[in-house]
Amino acid sequence: MTDLADLEAGLTGRVAAAPDTAALEAIRVEALGKTGAVSALLKSLGSMSPDERKTQGPLINGLRDRVAAAIAGRKTELEAAELDARLAAGRLDLSLPAPPRRRGAVHPTMQVMDEMIAIFADMGFALAEGPDIEDDFHNFTALNFPPKHPAREMHDTFFLNPGPDGERKLLRTHTSPVQVRTMQKTNTPPGASWIAAGQSPPIRIISPGRTYRMDSDATHTPMFHQIEGLVIDREIHMGHLKWTLDQFIARFFELESVVTRFRPHHFPFTEPSAEMDVQCDTSGGEVKIGQGTEWSEIVGCGMVHPNVLLSCGIDPDEWQGFAFGFGVDRLGRLKYGMPDLRDMFASDTRWLSHYGFSAFAAPNPASGLS
Ligand code: PHE
Repeated sequence: MTDLADLEAGLTGRVAAAPDTAALEAIRVEALGKTGAVSALLKSLGSMSPDERKTQGPLINGLRDRVAAAIAGRKTELEAAELDARLAAGRLDLSLPAPPRRRGAVHPTMQVMDEMIAIFADMGFALAEGPDIEDDFHNFTALNFPPKHPAREMHDTFFLNPGPDGERKLLRTHTSPVQVRTMQKTNTPPGASWIAAGQSPPIRIISPGRTYRMDSDATHTPMFHQIEGLVIDREIHMGHLKWTLDQFIARFFELESVVTRFRPHHFPFTEPSAEMDVQCDTSGGEVKIGQGTEWSEIVGCGMVHPNVLLSCGIDPDEWQGFAFGFGVDRLGRLKYGMPDLRDMFASDTRWLSHYGFSAFAAPNPASGLS
């Protein structure tokens, strides 16, 4: 065997045996790289005599071509094998059970809000909102609270620290300031589009939202939710109020009809004022609305006090109307039977998955809205 044949046999043997592309590359550099054995042979052609070059040229070039072809062939083989190995190693085991997925639920208060809004929307009420942080004027003064009313005490209401001008803001104690903001055409802050835009009568709005009082026991939490209603027109009277509340209560509790009663009460912003009770039965340990001989208090209401209309620039000789305020959480407890109000805001996900609602359910089958 000549030296060239030895070299070729050695190189092609090693190429065929190269275990991976890295080893193959090392062989390629060794043979065909700048300082490789085959490259050196090719370079040596330059110093040969023309005759010698004639015989050696084709031999050396042939050797270079065959070695290069062997390397390219082996490279394709190795790359395919390496790809197969990577694919095999990265295969997903689709038979593995997926980890359990926890589904969120709609909080009962939000569900009840939606149900209530759907019923009132169906009755033609528009939605109005206002800020949680209120001033004394909208929360108290415009609503005819006397200067020394107990709700203005620190132990009843959450007051914020006084501002530079000495004004003490507060967390609204009810959603009634929204009726003031709605009736006060001129007092809507510019840009606050979520705040009820002021309007002239006739007015028919509900305002849902959070409210705050310094209270905490099984039936009171420092933060709770109310829906306020306000209707102002020329001839609105208590008969309209009673019909509206009766309709609402029957639909909310999904009853054909319902027995209610007005009980005289006092609110500074309504005259006359009343609380409405609904017929119920508590003998079985839970409250059943719409049957039995007992009464459950359900909503505060009354005819808007003329002083409130005057505070808002509405002439009480021309316009009158009613207002009501529901406790949303309390209504939810009556309908869905949660025993302790405090649990509703404890953020315990076990409680939520027990009492929560599917996000895909319609607000209320009785509402007529879907
Ligand atoms: N704002 C009253 C409260 O929070 C409820 C209410 C609203 C009463 C409207 C009468 C009219 O207790």
